[in-house]
Amino acid sequence: MSGVNDIRSTFLDYFKKNGHEVVDSSPLVPRNDPTLMFTNAGMVQFKNVFTGLEKRPYSMATTSQKCVRAGGKHNDLDNVGYTARHLTFFEMLGNFSFGDYFKEQAIEFAWKLVTEGFDLPKNRLLVTVYSEDEEAATLWKKIAGFSDDKIIRIPTSDNFWQMGDTGPCGPCSEIFIDQGENVWGGPPGSPEEDGDRFLEFWNLVFMQFEQTAPGERSLLPRPSIDTGMGLERMACVLQGKQSVFDTDLFRTLIGTIEDVMGVKAEGSASHRVIADHLRSSAFLIADGVLPSKEGRGYVLRRIMRRAMRHAELLGAREPVMYKLLPTLIQEMGRAYPELVRAEALISETLKLEETRFRKTLERGLSLLSDATADLGKGDMLDGETAFKLYDTFGFPLDLTQDALRTREIGVDLAGFDDAMERQKAEARSHWAGSGDKATEAIWFELKEKLGATEFLGYETEQAEGVVQAIVKDGTSVDSAEVGESVQVVVSQTPFYGESGGQMGDTGVISTDNAKVSVSDTQKRGEGLFVHVAKVAEGKLKVGDAVILTVDHARRSRLRSNHSATHLLHEAMREVLGNHVVQKGSLVAPERLRFDVAHPKPMSAEELQRVEDMANAIIIQNAKVSTRLMSVDDAIAEGAMALFGEKYGDEVRVVSMGTAIDGEKAGKPYSIELCGGTHVNATGDIGLVRVLSESAVGAGVRRLEAVTGDAARAYLSEQDDRVKTLAGALKVQPSDVVSRVEALLDERRKLEKELADAKRRLAMGGGEGGTGADAREIAGTKFMGRVLAGIDAKDLKGLADEGKASLGSGVVTLIGVSEDGKASAVVAVTEDLVGRFSAVDLVRIASAALGGKGGGGRPDMAQAGGPDGAKADEAIEAVAAALSA
Ligand code: ALA
Repeated sequence: MSGVNDIRSTFLDYFKKNGHEVVDSSPLVPRNDPTLMFTNAGMVQFKNVFTGLEKRPYSMATTSQKCVRAGGKHNDLDNVGYTARHLTFFEMLGNFSFGDYFKEQAIEFAWKLVTEGFDLPKNRLLVTVYSEDEEAATLWKKIAGFSDDKIIRIPTSDNFWQMGDTGPCGPCSEIFIDQGENVWGGPPGSPEEDGDRFLEFWNLVFMQFEQTAPGERSLLPRPSIDTGMGLERMACVLQGKQSVFDTDLFRTLIGTIEDVMGVKAEGSASHRVIADHLRSSAFLIADGVLPSKEGRGYVLRRIMRRAMRHAELLGAREPVMYKLLPTLIQEMGRAYPELVRAEALISETLKLEETRFRKTLERGLSLLSDATADLGKGDMLDGETAFKLYDTFGFPLDLTQDALRTREIGVDLAGFDDAMERQKAEARSHWAGSGDKATEAIWFELKEKLGATEFLGYETEQAEGVVQAIVKDGTSVDSAEVGESVQVVVSQTPFYGESGGQMGDTGVISTDNAKVSVSDTQKRGEGLFVHVAKVAEGKLKVGDAVILTVDHARRSRLRSNHSATHLLHEAMREVLGNHVVQKGSLVAPERLRFDVAHPKPMSAEELQRVEDMANAIIIQNAKVSTRLMSVDDAIAEGAMALFGEKYGDEVRVVSMGTAIDGEKAGKPYSIELCGGTHVNATGDIGLVRVLSESAVGAGVRRLEAVTGDAARAYLSEQDDRVKTLAGALKVQPSDVVSRVEALLDERRKLEKELADAKRRLAMGGGEGGTGADAREIAGTKFMGRVLAGIDAKDLKGLADEGKASLGSGVVTLIGVSEDGKASAVVAVTEDLVGRFSAVDLVRIASAALGGKGGGGRPDMAQAGGPDGAKADEAIEAVAAALSA
C-alpha cells in the first residue's frame, strides 16, 4: 500500500470515513487569490472559507492538492535536484475544518492515521510545536503519549504558518520521522536540522488569524484546521527511501529519462531536476499557463529552460522533454485527468520551447564558458554578461546561477539589475512622441512599472486581483469616487481585452465597499489590460483587493460568435475556394460580421452551403482545442494566419471540428491562429444563421450572422411572420408561397385590364371611336388631350391610336401625374411629316409646361415639364403652331 496512488487514496478515504467532504484539487493558478503566483498549499482554495467570506455546504473537507512552489513566498526552485526532498511540484494531502473541530481532534485524526492507517513506528516519530503553543504540547503528550524530548518547541516563523504576505495563518505543529543514524542530520531546531535524517512529512496548522497587512492580524471568525502532508515525502517514508527521487513514481520517471538520454542516473542532479521540472511544467501547462516573458508564464519558462539545460548536460542535442511526457501521464493521468486532456498541448509546448531554446543554448553556454574561463571558486560573473545571456540567449538569471553553482561562482546581481535598467531606459526613450503616441506613453510607463497584466480569461470568468493603477483623463490617480469614469489596471484579470476583432469584456469589479461597472476592456502599452470603468458605488483605491467578474451571458455569446466566425470562414473557403481570406471581422455579443476577399456576390445556393457546413460541424459537438506553436509550425499545419494581426514568436492555434470529406477528411476542420476566447465544444454554438451577404468595397464581401439564442430568436421571428401571413391569407403556412404567387399573377392580370380600360376611357370611350375633340386647324386635323393619371410610358401607344383615328393629322397628348408633373407626346401622321416636325411641336408644348427640350423622331416626340396645371395652354400652343 505504499505506492503514491495508494497513499493518496488511503488518506482521502480515511478522512471521508470521518465525515470529510472529498474535494477536487483546485487549479495551480489561484482564482481566488491575487497575491499568490501559484497554488502553494491545500488551503489556498479554502482561503475565503476560513475567513468567513465564502460559505460551503460542508464544514470539513479533505483534498489532494496540486502545488507549485517556484516563485513568491514559498519558492523551492533553487533547491531542487540538490536536496533529497525539495520539489517544485508536489501533491499536498490535507484535511480541513472550517470552524468545526480544532486542535485536539486534529491531532487525534493525524496520530491515528499515521500510526494505524500508515502503520509508522511510534518510536521514530517526533513533533514540533510553536513555542508559545503550550496547549498543543499538552495535547501531544495526552494523545500520543510523547515525552517532552519528543516535543520540540520552535520559537521561529518555521512553526507559524502563513500562506503568503496576507491570508489565514496560525501556529503549527509538524510531524517528523527519524530516518535513522545512517542519514546525516539533526532534529528540528538543532544546528544540523537541514540534514535529511529528520524528515518533516505532515504539518498541522491551527488557523486562528488572518494577516490583513504587514504587522496587522485579526482573529478568524472561528478557529479552524488546515493540514498538509507531502505525498511524495510520505511515499519516501513508507517505501523506506531517503530521497523523494527514489520513490516509485520518480523511479519510473527517472528510468524513462535514463532510457531516452542513454545516461544512467547514478545520483545525478540533472535526472532529478528534469523529473521534477517535467512534472511542474506539465501540470502548469494543463492549468492554462504557457511560457512567456512575464509573470507566471516566465516562471514556467524558467522551470522548463532549467530542465532543458540539464538535458543538455546529459548530452541531449535534440528536444527530449516531450518524450518523457507519456510516462508522466501513465503515472499520474488517472488521478489528474486534466493531464490527459492537455496531452497534445503539453507535448507541443515542451517541444516548441526546447526547439527555440536549443537554437541559442550552445552559443550561450559557450559565451558563459569563455566569460568564466578565468574565474574560480568564490568569484563573480559580471552582471553585463549575465544580462546578455538573459536578453540575447534566453537564459533566465537563475539558470545562469545554476550553471555556475557547481563551480561555486556567483553572479553580480547589482550589475545585472543595472544592465536591465539601462535597457528599459532605452525603450522608454522611444515612447515620447506627439499626438496619440504621447497619450499612450502613460500606458508604457505603467507597463514598465507594473509588468504585464496576467490574463486568466481563457480559464475563468471570475478572479481576484489587486488594483495597480487608476487612470483618469490620462493621469494616474490614487482613487476614484462614485460617478467617476476611469481606466483601471488590475494585477490579473479574466476580462478579455479587445483584439483580433473580438470586443472587450464587460462586467463588474467589486470590493467589500465599492462596485465598479466595466463597459469595455482594452489592451494598452503592450501588455496591460485596461478596464474602462465607472464607479457605481463606494470608492475604489489603488491597492484594493478586488473581485473581477465578467458578464457571463455576454461573454458566452462572444465565444459562440467567435468560434462560428472560424467555422464560416473555413466553410467559405471550401465553397468558394482557397482565395477566400478574412479581411477583418467584428465579433460582438449580438452578432458576428466578417469581410472576405471574393470578387463577386455569393449566390443563395453558395450561402446555404456555407451555412449548412458550419452547422454540420456545430452538430459534431467536437472539442475546441487550443495549442501554442511557433508561427511557422502552425502555418505548416494548415493554420490560417489572419491579415493585419501581429503575431509573436509563439501563437495560439485554435482548431475545431473534424473535416467530413475532401482531402482533409478526418483532420481538424478549422485551424486558425487566434488569441480570442472560444466555446469548449462546437455544440455550444447551438446554431449559426447567416443574415446577409453584401459588398463593402471592390472585391470584398461582408457576411453577417447570428448564433445560438440570437439565431433561434431570428428564426422564430421569421416563423411568426409566416404564420401571421398564413392567417391573413387564410391558408396553411406551407401554402403561403403558392398563394402569394397566385395573388401576384392575379394582380398582374388585373393591372393589365385596368390599364386597357383606362386607355379606352382616355381615348374617348367606345372601341375604335374617333376622338370627339378632334378639330381642324388650317386644314390639318388636330387632336389635343389632357390625360390625368396616365403613365408617361403609355402616352406613345395612345398617340398611335390617336393618329389611326385621325387618318391624317397631328396628335398632342399631355399626361399629368398625381404629383402635378406633366409629360407630353406629339405624333404627326406620315403624310404630314414634311410639313410638321413632332420634335419642334413637342418642344413648344414643353416650354408651355415650364420644361425645356424634348426629343424623338419627326413623327413621334416626347418631352416633360414640371407644370401640369398648364396642360391646356400647352395644347393650345401646339394648335397655334399649326396655323402659323
Ligand atoms: N498549509 C500548511 C502547509 O502548507 C499545511 O504546510
